[in-house]
Amino acid sequence: MSNVLVITTSLRAKSNSDILAQRLIAGAKDAGHRVEEISLKGKSIGFCRGCLACQKTQKCVLKDDAVAIAEKVMNADTLVFVTPIYYYEMSGQMKTLLDRMNPLYSADYKFRSVYMLSVAAEDESTTPDKAVSGLQGWVDCFEKAELAGSLFCGGINDAGEAAGKPEEQQEAYEFGRTLK
Ligand SMILES: Cc1cc2nc3c(=O)[nH]c(=O)nc-3n(C[C@H](O)[C@H](O)[C@H](O)COP(=O)(O)O)c2cc1C
Repeated sequence: MSNVLVITTSLRAKSNSDILAQRLIAGAKDAGHRVEEISLKGKSIGFCRGCLACQKTQKCVLKDDAVAIAEKVMNADTLVFVTPIYYYEMSGQMKTLLDRMNPLYSADYKFRSVYMLSVAAEDESTTPDKAVSGLQGWVDCFEKAELAGSLFCGGINDAGEAAGKPEEQQEAYEFGRTLK
């Protein structure tokens, strides 16, 4: 059993990726994991300033919601990043969050398995590639961790549309069951 942290990054009401994340969470819980969910909705997360003070102090000079999220990321066994595809990439808010996790780079972080769930209007198998590659780049910098898997659900665009997509919901549930 792992402590799984699911971070949903869409800011949209009736977010498709949020809807599928709920199914993923149900699968992870049914597999026996303890799951905590954080949504970036309503959070204040500033851009990394690149000062690198965090590499000496393990603390960010910015005091906003990324500080508490970093604490949770550090102590989870398993991370799941949930993102809409924006211009064939992860959402900007997800990338901003990843940059703000820089204090963890030199810390004794616990996470070992990282996953991604992404959603887009298009349904080409290549649609999420750059987003997956971007997260892979982050994971590569945390050498004790691996990008253990990713699920892409395409062909979903309008707000709330995922609620009427039982196949994708089932896929997300099954994906949740496979988490380490
Ligand atoms: C700024 C922006 C960029 C987008 N870029 C893409 C894209 O490159 N490819 C695509 O298939 N869909 C793209 N979309 C559509 C979203 O991925 C799609 O609406 C998805 O369902 C949103 O998920 P959400 O409801 O969880 O936010 C874009 C949407 C926005 C707002």
